[in-house]
Amino acid sequence: MNFLNEVAQHYPDAVSLAAGRPYEEYFDVAALHRWLDRFHRHLVQEQGLGPEQARRTLLQYGRTKGIVHHLVARNLAVDEGITADPEAVVVTVGCQEAMFLVLRALRTDPRDVLLAVAPTYVGLTGAARLVDLPVRPVAGGPAGVDLADLAEQVRRARAEGLRPRACYVMPDFANPSGVSMDTAHRRRLLESAAEAELLLIEDNPYGLFPARDGERPPTLKALDTDRRVVYLGSFAKSVLPGARVGYVLADQRVAAPDGSVGLLADHLAKIKSMVTVNTSPIAQAVIGGRLLEHDCSLAGANTRERAAYARNLRHLLDGLARRFPPERFPGVSWTAPAGGFFVVVTVPFGVDDALLHRSAREYGVLWTPMAHFYDDGAVVNALRLSISAVSPAQIDLGLDRLAKLVADEVAALVGGGAGQPR
Ligand SMILES: Cc1ncc(COP(=O)(O)O)c(C=O)c1O
Repeated sequence: MNFLNEVAQHYPDAVSLAAGRPYEEYFDVAALHRWLDRFHRHLVQEQGLGPEQARRTLLQYGRTKGIVHHLVARNLAVDEGITADPEAVVVTVGCQEAMFLVLRALRTDPRDVLLAVAPTYVGLTGAARLVDLPVRPVAGGPAGVDLADLAEQVRRARAEGLRPRACYVMPDFANPSGVSMDTAHRRRLLESAAEAELLLIEDNPYGLFPARDGERPPTLKALDTDRRVVYLGSFAKSVLPGARVGYVLADQRVAAPDGSVGLLADHLAKIKSMVTVNTSPIAQAVIGGRLLEHDCSLAGANTRERAAYARNLRHLLDGLARRFPPERFPGVSWTAPAGGFFVVVTVPFGVDDALLHRSAREYGVLWTPMAHFYDDGAVVNALRLSISAVSPAQIDLGLDRLAKLVADEVAALVGGGAGQPR
């Protein structure tokens, strides 16, 4: 992520189809004050806190598990049909901290490994590296996770004397693949995880952004009847990333080193108290106010954003079809996700950081090499485009520039020049 930021800073005039940042047009500084006030009123009028207590709640060091946990639980009920005990929620500094806490808690032995559907989010592999937890890839495939490969990876790891602790999945509009699991596959995944006695870590930052109307499939957590799913949430895309607030719902019962049994959330809170102490109550209050303003429905709060992302995704897919007709570009194809931020374009040449630099410098367009989402360092013939932080006009400009780059690379390939397909 730092690498991409650096490239973007180096080439400020390049159109960025790389950043997975949310749409900025609806950012509103004045709303922060309103949301803070709304949450403050909630503390006083609905929670019955005195003025001093309310002030302390907002401004003092605070509860490690957070102060908007009850609103997060309500949001999960309203938007996702998840029945969550507020005590099982830990409000974190972004979803990234939630990821770190969970992996830190799971990693108790040098034989521990994590499984993750490949390609996977770089923040996950980075956090796993920080806690010395090797990540083993599981094939994703068109269904979102290849269950035969999942079973095989668990078997193989155990045969090697390793302990697969969990499998990390993004069932909704995954980053980077864009793939979603249908409901039947979600159920099968839960069954497979139960058979393999494996925990699932469900990460869901994009679920609120389907590109088409209609029912969203239930989250794994909503289908989870035996506390097999640790659910990670982020308010970066559904409220604002600058608040840096996310959470984890961890309702598993776990044994502490002293033999006592408690909620995994409490164990995570102990770790959190040594990492960030507590999530900024001011930032939480902003998120809390936004939740309260919309009766805890972020689906309801994000109708404009959802429409903008759907429009951009359609625009990008139409633009790709216009610029890469199959008769002229037989080796170019792309995914057509049902929502979310990301489209993966496959090309007939290797895509690496050097090509990205050249793309930025000579063509004026940024994208993300798919190799970043695999941990094996191999060159991959694909790149990720993001539709989230651009306008339709920027998408057009970026695609024009990308089409020129691809045409030149293909021509070089035909002429025996640069770029060797893998
Ligand atoms: C799959 C995934 N998980 C987690 C995050 C990070 O969320 P946060 O900004 O809340 O730390 C992102 C951000 O892009 C993401 O794509």
